Amino acid sequence: MLLLGELEEKKENKRSLLKKLYESLEKERKCVLYESSSGYVFGEGDPDSPVVFVGEAPGEEEDKLKRPFVGRAGQYLNSKLEEVGLKREKVYITNVVKSRPPGNRVPTKEEMASCLPYLRREIEIIKPKIIVCLGSTAVKGILGKDYSITKYRGKTFPYPYDSSIKVFLTYHPAYILRNPSSDKEFLEDLKSIVRIISQA
Ligand code: URA
Repeated sequence: MLLLGELEEKKENKRSLLKKLYESLEKERKCVLYESSSGYVFGEGDPDSPVVFVGEAPGEEEDKLKRPFVGRAGQYLNSKLEEVGLKREKVYITNVVKSRPPGNRVPTKEEMASCLPYLRREIEIIKPKIIVCLGSTAVKGILGKDYSITKYRGKTFPYPYDSSIKVFLTYHPAYILRNPSSDKEFLEDLKSIVRIISQA
């Protein structure tokens, strides 16, 4: 068992590795779409979180504020997290693509591929118990395959790069804002996620 001081040290170490990763992202500029946006939007939250939420790409508000999920979809996500007792600052939230695609279009396969090494490294540093894919772009980025969210939501798969990590599929919050009838299922999914975390 780790002592409190050791846990803090581990967390600080993760923070510093994430900082280095974000510095290399800025320096290398290999993750595309940088020029057409206001810059990169990094992941944020608790680096020791047992859960990492992965979205598609920053939108207009995220691009302006340089933080993930701070627009309407983010506010909805925050309220649902609170409903199941998960505090936003206690989880980790990031995106497949780190800058805003023009007009919020879906990122292309090539754009995703250019940013995926950074997402994989983020996950490697955090080493969560569960990765939650918010929508099909996140699923494609994390599992490398197309899965229908309506068919596979609520299901888990092993993370291809570390089978001790579970990958959980659910709706993208922006989809629920357009299809409010899915709100109940999203809440059920978040409750399942809380159960998985507490069992692990
Ligand atoms: N949608 C996403 O996929 N990510 C964000 O950060 C905001 C909206």
